[in-house]
Amino acid sequence: MTSKNLDHFLKVNLADLKEKGLYNVIDPLESPNGPMITIAGKELINLSSNNYLGLATDDRLKEAAIDAVKKFGTGAGAVRTINGTLKIHLELEEKLAKFKKTEAAIAYQSGFNCNMAAISAVMDKNDAILSDELNHASIIDGCRLSKAKIIRFNHSDMEDLRARAKEAKESGLYNKIMVITDGVFSMDGDIAKLPEIVEIAEEFDLITYVDDAHGSGVLGDGAGTVKHFGLSDKIDFQIGTLSKAIGVVGGYVAGKQDLIDWLKVRSRPFLFSTSLTPADVAACIKAIEILTDSTELNKKLWENGDYLKAGLKKLGFNIGASETPITPCIIGDEVQTQEFSKRLNQEGVYAKSIVFPTVPRGTGRVRNMPSAAHTKEMLDRAISIYEKVGKEMGII
Ligand SMILES: Cc1ncc(COP(=O)(O)O)c(C=O)c1O
Repeated sequence: MTSKNLDHFLKVNLADLKEKGLYNVIDPLESPNGPMITIAGKELINLSSNNYLGLATDDRLKEAAIDAVKKFGTGAGAVRTINGTLKIHLELEEKLAKFKKTEAAIAYQSGFNCNMAAISAVMDKNDAILSDELNHASIIDGCRLSKAKIIRFNHSDMEDLRARAKEAKESGLYNKIMVITDGVFSMDGDIAKLPEIVEIAEEFDLITYVDDAHGSGVLGDGAGTVKHFGLSDKIDFQIGTLSKAIGVVGGYVAGKQDLIDWLKVRSRPFLFSTSLTPADVAACIKAIEILTDSTELNKKLWENGDYLKAGLKKLGFNIGASETPITPCIIGDEVQTQEFSKRLNQEGVYAKSIVFPTVPRGTGRVRNMPSAAHTKEMLDRAISIYEKVGKEMGII
């Protein structure tokens, strides 16, 4: 017999989430995750994917993946440290280091895994981590896993960071102190204040850790937030994901050779989880080559982002403090946010609602992720649907 206690816990809590409008319904796609998608037989303008540059459906990546499957098979067959390191894993890491302008890089199976791997490989219970309050869930979990003291600072508040760094340093309680931030905050599209963070880090001898999942491929001509600010030699850990702008799956840390050597012997997902598949690795290599050769996709992404933002702002939507193509429409109330997203969907736009616990309570939003693959016609149509539904619901 299975647990009655568990059955009760699940029933009560699922019902509670549904009642509060916090239960996320998953819509399976019947098409690739491109600028237009098909869900339940209906074609929709897709503004919910992290496929920023359109590379997830790019023929060059698909061909590279198919060739790799033919040459190496479907799986790498082991963890990296046993015999799951194919030559193409090393080629990818070399290309990532060049792209990020660091001495070396290490690839993981996901961006989430990167944060599980990298933080706890260097931080422990005798250390402290200064963490932006809006950091991504995987950073929070990575910090918890390390057992270091977590000291949250107010979002992008440099005075608060400085005060907490000073206090932590002067307490003499910690062997090492790290400051950790998203490069681009994915719920609002704002950029971390890296120049100030570096200044504070230098003042208090902090280890710097930037998770650039949403900045890579987007800022700094594609190389990311750190390059955008010209700080490549000042950040210890540059984390990236291969599953958003790069269009495949995986994650990486780029940094000094010693750091990468250490992660290769001490980071647990590298040692205890099977390595990226040959198809994924080959497609990532192709994507990095494309981004190294040309900034065309990056330029198109920004053009489309600026266009959508201007259109929604002009209509009177609250698009928050976004500085990147990520464009939230902040509605506030969770139930109204979900209803707004549902109505957009009925009219032909797929823009997912994001509510607590992904964002703070009362800041529910419909988040738009325009990509390089959208056409002006698609964006115009999306803006006119926003206008119709926004007016109908009294949001604008
Ligand atoms: C800042 C940040 N880090 C890590 C991740 C996880 O990346 P992945 O999807 O490659 O696991 C995300 C994904 O949303 C993210 O936004």
